Amino acid sequence: MTASQEPPLTAFEADVPELDPSVDPAPVRLEHALDPLRLGPIDVPTPVMLSPMAGVTNWPFRVLCEEYGPDGLYVAEMITARALVARNPKALRLCRFAPQEGPRSLQLYGVNPSIVEQAARIVVDEHMADHVDLNFGCPVPKVTRRGGGSALPWKTDLFADIVRRVVHVCEPAGIPVTAKFRVGIDDEHVTFHEAGHIAQEEGCAAVTLHARTTAEYYGGHSDWSRIGELVAELGIPVFGNGDIWGADDAVRMVNETGCAGVAIGRGCQGRPWIFADIRHAFAGSDERADPTLGEVGAIIVRHAELLTRFYDGDERMAVHDLRKHVAWYLKGFPVGGRMRRAFMECEGLDDVRRLVATLDPDARIPARVVDKPRGRVRFAKKVHLPYGWLDSRHTTREERERLFGDDPMDAGY
Ligand SMILES: Cc1cc2nc3c(=O)[nH]c(=O)nc-3n(C[C@H](O)[C@H](O)[C@H](O)COP(=O)(O)O)c2cc1C
Repeated sequence: MTASQEPPLTAFEADVPELDPSVDPAPVRLEHALDPLRLGPIDVPTPVMLSPMAGVTNWPFRVLCEEYGPDGLYVAEMITARALVARNPKALRLCRFAPQEGPRSLQLYGVNPSIVEQAARIVVDEHMADHVDLNFGCPVPKVTRRGGGSALPWKTDLFADIVRRVVHVCEPAGIPVTAKFRVGIDDEHVTFHEAGHIAQEEGCAAVTLHARTTAEYYGGHSDWSRIGELVAELGIPVFGNGDIWGADDAVRMVNETGCAGVAIGRGCQGRPWIFADIRHAFAGSDERADPTLGEVGAIIVRHAELLTRFYDGDERMAVHDLRKHVAWYLKGFPVGGRMRRAFMECEGLDDVRRLVATLDPDARIPARVVDKPRGRVRFAKKVHLPYGWLDSRHTTREERERLFGDDPMDAGY
């Protein structure tokens, strides 16, 4: 049975978390006003970044976020350098931007410095982006077991080589390069100090630190004190990243660490308006968005329409992509399980529109339960690394040969 044949649906199961009476609802204030940020020729008046998320931060989602905070930095999901060099159509689709987007930020991922350099050359020659971020933070086993993502900064020579080559290609074109990395592989193999210094020396305009190790994956709470350490060590701006679920967290991170800006990942899933909240908070205002379910429903429909354009008119692909977003959009709202399941069965835009029309337009998320963790929260079972990876901080010739033979074409996060 399709969603359209089902009887009318009503909310019958509230998905409302318990109120925590110990939480103080008073907004937190910045202790010192934040300076606007400059990355090479790019101004970032509100130093907030949409952290790249594979499968999430394609242009339809970025456009929605950017509408709430027009002066931040909105980064596309990681593009595998080898796939871009091979002109893989899926990778090329991820490099697309909406006309209204600016600055256009792309993230490259790769292990082989020569391939990453070639990918950067394509970005520059074909005017694909205004800013390039480099991914050294991915914890996914299929990436780290090839020495990529968060495994890579352990090999300081390889890390420096990639950053140097990309900066060398991008800088003359006025395209700033930034690097994003984690604290390290685990507590015994911390890499962020060296990574930060190398990134700075090789010409990165800023760095982003996700304050977790690979072993921590997305579990527990990120250790913001690590961000403070890096801020104290570097002259270039540091974006703090990890567990910002609302504007107050963003302010708290800045107050606690002195970071020049914040990067938001899971906290904006289903809540693009968090960028408006952070913008207000950074400007000293207590104004916060509190959208009704009717307003969120309108965003869902708009998101579905933009995704249809992203998939060149393929509504089925669009609404399938939309599924995870709908689950996030509805989180905390009193919407029943049957309705949520019906969204998961949509096959076209009309199905989405019909379901949205049956939502209670006046419903709201209960106060003080909005800024809660969402998305992935699990720990890694085991960190997968190439054989002998931790034996030395430098790559041997054999190691490089082994690594560069088979970069994954599609390193899904
Ligand atoms: C679904 C998902 C996909 C991600 N994809 C990327 C990616 O493509 N590139 C990247 O550098 N980080 C990626 N990340 C990591 C986030 O950018 C961010 O660093 C991390 O989620 C921590 O921030 P948060 O606590 O605000 O979510 C991803 C995270 C998630 C949950």
